[in-house]
Amino acid sequence: MNGISDGRVLAVGSVNIDRLLRCPVLPSAGETVLVTSTGEAFGGKGANQAVAAAAMGVVTHLVAKVGGDADGLKALADLRSASVGVDTVIVDVSAPTGQALVMVDPDGENSIAVIAGANALLSSEDVTDALTVLQPRAHDVILTSGEVPASCLPTVAACLPPGARWVHNAAPAGPLPAWPADRRPLLVVNEVEARQLTGTADARAAARTLAEAADGAVVTLGGEGALVAEEGHCAHIPAPAVTVVDTTGAGDTFCGTLAAELARGRSLALAAVTAVDAGAFAVTALGARGALPRPRDLARMRTR
Ligand code: RIB
Repeated sequence: MNGISDGRVLAVGSVNIDRLLRCPVLPSAGETVLVTSTGEAFGGKGANQAVAAAAMGVVTHLVAKVGGDADGLKALADLRSASVGVDTVIVDVSAPTGQALVMVDPDGENSIAVIAGANALLSSEDVTDALTVLQPRAHDVILTSGEVPASCLPTVAACLPPGARWVHNAAPAGPLPAWPADRRPLLVVNEVEARQLTGTADARAAARTLAEAADGAVVTLGGEGALVAEEGHCAHIPAPAVTVVDTTGAGDTFCGTLAAELARGRSLALAAVTAVDAGAFAVTALGARGALPRPRDLARMRTR
């Protein structure tokens, strides 16, 4: 299907404040390194994905939990300014807003440690209440990710109406639940997560395995693009060459863009081509949302 539809993106996921640490090298076990600069940015996989979807011009809502602290209020204001619907973001005064320590090396590679905070308190009841308000409908895409409790996933499955699509970014990778046969998500993972979930380092084999267990699978390959596996086929989508500054959040931009394109009614293959371009654009600046692609940026990339 390649037509235009008016689906929305309903993201269920985390909100963090990212503490950015630029390091000469990423510290290995037992190693101490001195950072060269520090910074702060808005992050969280759920929030990053929602902002990326909204930047593509698709109506987007976020289901999440933040603390009642200054970080939570700043994050909410930022999401509002990015045109993400936040009526279903709960402010919980009993916990701090999530934080992430994001270390980035001169090649743009990162290591991230997350302090879940309020994200860990997002319950299946919260998700049910939020989806009752949002009333998912045909053509909507529900986008979930792994930084909120896994107990939220069966709730999403239960609330999925006919004709709506579910995309699950299994990051960080954890045991996957047994999905109901008629309510399985499209899985999106990077190569590391694909290996963790399947036990194979062969990304193509992993993509096929994951696709059979779900409603198709996408394995992102960093600068090499992505593999899209569905209905017994596995296609490679190459990425455009870019200058890498920071890979943080590239996967989130990929997921948000993919969900937005699917909500517009694009086929998975076409949506993944746009998402690969968006992920490439995202790595060209520091921070998870330092380079947030809009349709005009992606059009410009293609004409280079
Ligand atoms: O995927 C990047 C994100 O992971 C960062 O923004 C950080 O908050 C962690 O959630």
